Amino acid sequence: MTRETVIVLDFGGQYNQLIARRVRECNVYCEIYSYKTDLEKIKAMRPAGIIFTGGPNSASKEDSPSYTKEIFSLGIPILGICYGAQLMMHLLGGKVETAPVREYGKIKVTVDPHSALFKNVSEKTICWMSHNDYISKEAPGFQIVAHTPDCPVAAAEDISKKLYALQFHPEVLHTVEGKKILSNFVYNICVCSGDWKMDSFVEESIHAIRQKVGQGKVLCALSGGVDSSVAAVLLSKAVGSQLTCVFVDHGLLRKNEGDEVEAVFGPEGPYDLHFIRVNAQNRFYEKLQGVTEPEKKRKIIGEEFIRVFEEEAKKIGAVDYLVQGTIYPDVVESGLGGESAVIKSHHNVGGLPDYVDFREIIEPLRNLFKDEVRQAGLELGIPEYLVFRQPFPGPGLGIRIIGEVTAEKVQIVQEADAIWREEIAAAGLDKEIGQYFAALTNMRSVGVMGDERTYDYAIALRAVTTTDFMTAESAPIPWDVLEKTTNRIVNEVKHVNRVLYDCTGKPPGTIEFE
Ligand code: XMP
Repeated sequence: MTRETVIVLDFGGQYNQLIARRVRECNVYCEIYSYKTDLEKIKAMRPAGIIFTGGPNSASKEDSPSYTKEIFSLGIPILGICYGAQLMMHLLGGKVETAPVREYGKIKVTVDPHSALFKNVSEKTICWMSHNDYISKEAPGFQIVAHTPDCPVAAAEDISKKLYALQFHPEVLHTVEGKKILSNFVYNICVCSGDWKMDSFVEESIHAIRQKVGQGKVLCALSGGVDSSVAAVLLSKAVGSQLTCVFVDHGLLRKNEGDEVEAVFGPEGPYDLHFIRVNAQNRFYEKLQGVTEPEKKRKIIGEEFIRVFEEEAKKIGAVDYLVQGTIYPDVVESGLGGESAVIKSHHNVGGLPDYVDFREIIEPLRNLFKDEVRQAGLELGIPEYLVFRQPFPGPGLGIRIIGEVTAEKVQIVQEADAIWREEIAAAGLDKEIGQYFAALTNMRSVGVMGDERTYDYAIALRAVTTTDFMTAESAPIPWDVLEKTTNRIVNEVKHVNRVLYDCTGKPPGTIEFE
């Protein structure tokens, strides 16, 4: 590891990725490793600092996640957070017990401003606590540098060994000065220089890709989403027309999306690459004829996508590299990085590698969080509307139409969705809402328009706020925005005479509407 790096050692806490993101926001590169990672491996990485995460266990219990004590005598600065702090104390001879008063939520903490960790932090500062156990006695050699009325050791330090323990969570936003505390750790204690910046990432990646690829041929499946777009532009800047991008238009994209992708990546666009758009709309509609079961639709779309791609790949012939838009949360969540893995198989370009004749996969965004991918996109000059796109599922509108998918229904939902997106943006809500779209219910009902009776579809509008897309809440959209959108949809979109707003959260709903 040559880049200055702070390591997050994951003990199963729910905020492992958040800690790494916060450190990176301080311009210091950070990676997550399981607490099961061998000490020799950690040593070999020569980290500038190590952070122990929180976790759900009790440090003093025999079978709780632990680590060899040797790590504390390497001279590498270590910050323990919550469980990490308790473990540090427990291993070094302090005492951890069930707290007589359990602290949960925002708590006023009194800190010692002379501690390097609390430089420029207010003496009384609001921090986020969430613990059943507490440190009742600090380990020998440690000084207490923060406390609350119920928590005698809210922070402790052993300056000579560069060890720091925090009972609260500096990584969450509820800890008002948390970012300052983490910045103090990486700059004042780990003495990092802060060399992790997106402009240098882009430059270094381009250089590294060029070195690796040489004169080789590269193939990329472009979906028009943020990750594959940024990956494609990075590759095109590195190897130009040695890159071929295949974009499959399955006829289930949002209004004008296919043309927008072509405008950016096609021959009229600013990038030097070989762009192939496959207009496979009718193939998909045919395969979907008469199919109403959501899981079956997903399967058909996924399989057909692979068939189309396979045919294109055959025409292109053998390539040297296949590009994938894997990003860091995919890596961590598929169990390769941290410990608190929510195991999910990520579905970036599901299953493509088996169908392409290639030598090696390139994943240029493998180390980036989503917000960093966006920053890299901006550095690369990709238009903002592409960079800040909301997530859009691979099966597209196929999973936003209840019942059978037909070309006519796709058009209805496209038009309604475009209006909804316009109105959300016009109301300035687009940055606050995680995901928003229109779906076509399979319900038709009686209405009246002019003097005529109608019997048409109901559109469902969906908008959710979410941080992780695993849980979500229905967004409280102002009535005037809903009213205007409804008026526009029933007036402008043929075959729609009713608009409904979906108030369901996830759980019990899902974000998509299928
Ligand atoms: P659900 O509907 O499961 O969606 O609450 C959670 C998030 O995942 C997206 N999603 C998908 N993304 N392929 C994708 O690339 C898929 O098959 C797929 N299904 C759901 C969804 O848009 C939301 O952001």
